[in-house]
Amino acid sequence: MKKSYLQTLEILLNLLIEWRNIRMMIFLHSKQKSMIAKEQNQIDEVLTQLYRDARYDILRMLKGAAKSMLRLMQPSDFENAYLSITKEQGEDLKCLIEENNIKNIIEFGTSFGISTLFLARGVMETEGHIITTELLESKAQKAIENFSKAGVADLIEVRIGDALKTLKDHTDPIDLLLLDGWKDLYLPLFKWNPIFMKTHLFMLIMPRWQRVKHS
Ligand SMILES: C[S@@+](CC[C@H](N)C(=O)[O-])C[C@H]1O[C@@H](n2cnc3c(N)ncnc32)[C@H](O)[C@@H]1O
Repeated sequence: MKKSYLQTLEILLNLLIEWRNIRMMIFLHSKQKSMIAKEQNQIDEVLTQLYRDARYDILRMLKGAAKSMLRLMQPSDFENAYLSITKEQGEDLKCLIEENNIKNIIEFGTSFGISTLFLARGVMETEGHIITTELLESKAQKAIENFSKAGVADLIEVRIGDALKTLKDHTDPIDLLLLDGWKDLYLPLFKWNPIFMKTHLFMLIMPRWQRVKHS
């Protein structure tokens, strides 16, 4: 009799501990969610500012195109232009990352960091990481500033220089490869480093003039 009383007491005690653990887990989960929501807001604020500034991109692009009338076009002709993906493309990228639990991302073509910020919104949910690479020092430095302002600098490694060099020795598995740099470098990139052939998912961003908005 005494034994079964003790057993019941032990079961009750275990249930109580279990209940406490579950409540603690729910509390931590909701705390983590609200922290992510706060950080997402911070990213959104920076994105809003960047898109506001990018409204003048058409003028910067015309200026860049004018410079390259008599010679081959160079990335430095567009040093001040964002040339960024659209908000819709960014939102799609974020969903893609979340839905496929993508963790290891490589991006070719950082510019001022708009697309990278959308990638960061995704990897915040999946606990992933991004390596992004930009040829022009001034653009890369501005992007680093933007990542700090958005509070996501710890999720992003920025490699400054030619992607063919900065990504040449990369050996870790890649879940998502986002190609949004100089289009004629895509093939050499694959030839130079065989790890790119093993990437799970490729995303190729089309040149701006081919970006049709579907309604
Ligand atoms: C279309 S923009 C990237 C836009 C960015 N993904 C976004 O959506 O905000 C292409 C960028 O690739 C960079 N780029 C060009 N050639 C490169 C190279 N060889 N290595 C690394 N970056 C390069 C350019 O300087 C330019 O900033």
